[in-house]
Amino acid sequence: MRLGVLVSGRGSNLRNLVELGFDVAAVATNRPSCPAAAFARDRGIALGEFSQKRYGSLQARDAAMARWLQAGGVELIVNAGYDRILSTEFTSQFAGRMLNVHPSLLPAFAGTMHAVEEALAQGVRITGCTIHVVTDELDSGPILLQAPVPVREGDDPESLRARIQVEEHRLLPQAVRLMEARLDKTSSPLG
Ligand code: GRF
Repeated sequence: MRLGVLVSGRGSNLRNLVELGFDVAAVATNRPSCPAAAFARDRGIALGEFSQKRYGSLQARDAAMARWLQAGGVELIVNAGYDRILSTEFTSQFAGRMLNVHPSLLPAFAGTMHAVEEALAQGVRITGCTIHVVTDELDSGPILLQAPVPVREGDDPESLRARIQVEEHRLLPQAVRLMEARLDKTSSPLG
């Protein structure tokens, strides 16, 4: 199944999917200079650059990104560290065909870019990661998979995030396979 991956940052989840042999047909980014975009260029994966300054509004940017993903024949979208809220037009256009990776056990620490820092600040003993289907409501769609990660004495955001990412790299491929199996049964085109 042709995947479109949305990225803004390091791109370790993107790299993991590519190295496991998933069909990453398109990578879209709002940050053309991020390491994830550099990885896509290096691997010769189609890269769509949608920096906000090129578009007048969030809706205009997301509409251009949606058209580009559809033109690339993308069948499932993976939001892997995309750091902007997506417009409801975008999320409803791809309803049931978009996954998100969040670095907490949702619904804990939903709606924040700083879930790892907040878990440490709150003193939780167990955090983790969640892979869920994206809906119009931020970080609230149906949960597919979760993994717990214990917080260790002396953890800082970097050390805790590194252990959470080990679990993300294990769960996201499983979640993509689950969605592929589910969508194969319905097989209606995107949009
Ligand atoms: C992940 O930790 C994910 O939970 C969050 O953004 C991060 C992306 O990491 N939404 P990477 O760019 O895939 O390394």
